Amino acid sequence: MCARCHADAALMASYGIPTDQYGLYQNSVHGVAVLQNQDQRAPTCSTCHGKHGAAPPGYSQVANVCGQCHSATENTT
Ligand code: HEC
Ligand code: HEC
Ligand code: HEC
Repeated sequence: MCARCHADAALMASYGIPTDQYGLYQNSVHGVAVLQNQDQRAPTCSTCHGKHGAAPPGYSQVANVCGQCHSATENTT
């Protein structure tokens, strides 16, 4: 659903945002887990970004979302 706009170079041209997110996601560890292995634990676009903004409610930056699942790694840094 997100790729309908975000992978459409003509539509996104005037916003100056890259259009490779879906392609990168498809080949990422998370995309392979969700799309090929039906692993519901791994994140989709909206797990990290939320449904209405660049970061979901309660997170000031999308980079902080990783610790929601990778809590041991977050505590190490
Ligand atoms: C109907 C088209 C459309 C759909 C569907 C859509 N977006 Fe967007 N999105 C946009 C546009 C256009 C912008 C740029 C808005 C601006 O700059 O004012 C944007 C901006 C963003 C940004 C901020 C990018 C930046 O760095 O400024 C993120 C993150 C984002 N969208 C994620 C998503 C996610 C995740 C989904 C699916 C849940 C999604 N979008 C669905 C059109 C769409
Ligand atoms: C594992 C978490 C995660 C997932 C899954 C994810 N994103 Fe992102 N996304 C990020 C992070 C982190 C950034 C970089 C934010 C920054 O630089 O501040 C980002 C950046 C973006 C941007 C801003 C432009 C850019 O490319 O830097 C857009 C648009 C976007 N993502 C859309 C998507 C879409 C569409 C999907 C699904 C196909 C998706 N994201 C899946 C975490 C994620
Ligand atoms: C909704 C839960 C969730 C979120 C949010 C999430 N991940 Fe993951 N992540 C997973 C799962 C599940 C796996 C294991 C997938 C597999 O191997 O099948 C994984 C695997 C990884 C791996 C590979 C680890 C390895 O040992 O192979 C990295 C790196 C990673 N995630 C980084 C991130 C980053 C960076 C973010 C935030 C931008 C993030 N993750 C957000 C669930 C999540």
